[in-house]
Amino acid sequence: MIILAIESSCDETAVSILKDKTAILSAIVSSQIDTHAKFGGVVPEIASRMHIENIAIVLQEALTKADLDIENVDAFAVTQGPGLIGCLHVGVLAAKTLAWYYQKPLIPVHHLAGHIYANALIDELEYPLLALVVSGGHTELILLKQEYDFMIVGSTQDDAVGEAYDKVARVLGLPYPGGVAIDKLAQIGKRNYQLPTVKTQGELDFSFSGIKSAVLQLIAREKRANRELIIEDIAYAFQHNAVEQLIDRVKKAVDTYQPKHIVLAGGVAANSYLRKRMNEEYKNHEDLKLTIPSLAYCTDNATMIAVAGYIAYQHGHRADLSLPADSSLEICSM
Ligand code: KG4
Ligand code: ZN
Repeated sequence: MIILAIESSCDETAVSILKDKTAILSAIVSSQIDTHAKFGGVVPEIASRMHIENIAIVLQEALTKADLDIENVDAFAVTQGPGLIGCLHVGVLAAKTLAWYYQKPLIPVHHLAGHIYANALIDELEYPLLALVVSGGHTELILLKQEYDFMIVGSTQDDAVGEAYDKVARVLGLPYPGGVAIDKLAQIGKRNYQLPTVKTQGELDFSFSGIKSAVLQLIAREKRANRELIIEDIAYAFQHNAVEQLIDRVKKAVDTYQPKHIVLAGGVAANSYLRKRMNEEYKNHEDLKLTIPSLAYCTDNATMIAVAGYIAYQHGHRADLSLPADSSLEICSM
């Protein structure tokens, strides 16, 4: 079965073509990062306009790389949501048009289901499976008791962890996307500053807006005391605090739900300290498998949408041409 998948939920226009579950025929990502970096973050109106300009080119390139006639595609998968609505519309409209013209099934995919199933490219997934989904828009613990059956067991009360990375980076005068810049700096930083541990209502929930405020207070305090700011040590303190919060909730969720497999997903899964800590905690567990996606499958791409689409298709998921783009699509509804 050949699936062509489209992802356009944020600032990447991506098309991948997948044969069966794991044979990637082509994977094209056109990133808009350089454009948005000038503004310090993604500008939705510019993002949707660039998707419109790029989608046909990316589609053509994916078909050329795969050396495939579009007539041979068996189904079209697309990110239905969540994401920026104007951006989602471009991908959804393109997929609907192709499905209609070539009279092939249309498969709607939740963006986070894509991030989670990126792990199926590397490992055979086992259930119950616990996914730590960490990106610019999401921080969630998602339990899959069985394949393609999603239950959110913990989520952020305020900012997403990637959002906190980006905001703290801006405070420190670092370029967008902030996660990458802080990750690099923190690697040369030392344990010099202390940030408070954040309390949340539910024991599996997260909170990151407090850490950003604490960083701001720390900077103000150091300035008042006429002390030189050691920026890499601030990056270290923030990263240590944010990642240890993630690890703490993962440990509690493992105790509560006893999963057989644990996976990382989303842009922040590219973080070197999070990857190191997850490996330290779970690498050689006897009854608990750990999978961490390779860097290219942490950030947005269409291959993850194709894999999730393949599995969704097997579970009977289909959409008709009334499929709406949905900026706040719930994963539990899939
Ligand atoms: O999954 P993604 O590409 O887009 C969303 O769906 O949000 O995630 C983007 C987020 C950004 O906030 C970015 O700063 C963060 O992932 N990120 C990182 C790293 N690389 C990307 N955060 C921490 N460390 C990294 N190495
Ligand atoms: Zn994403």
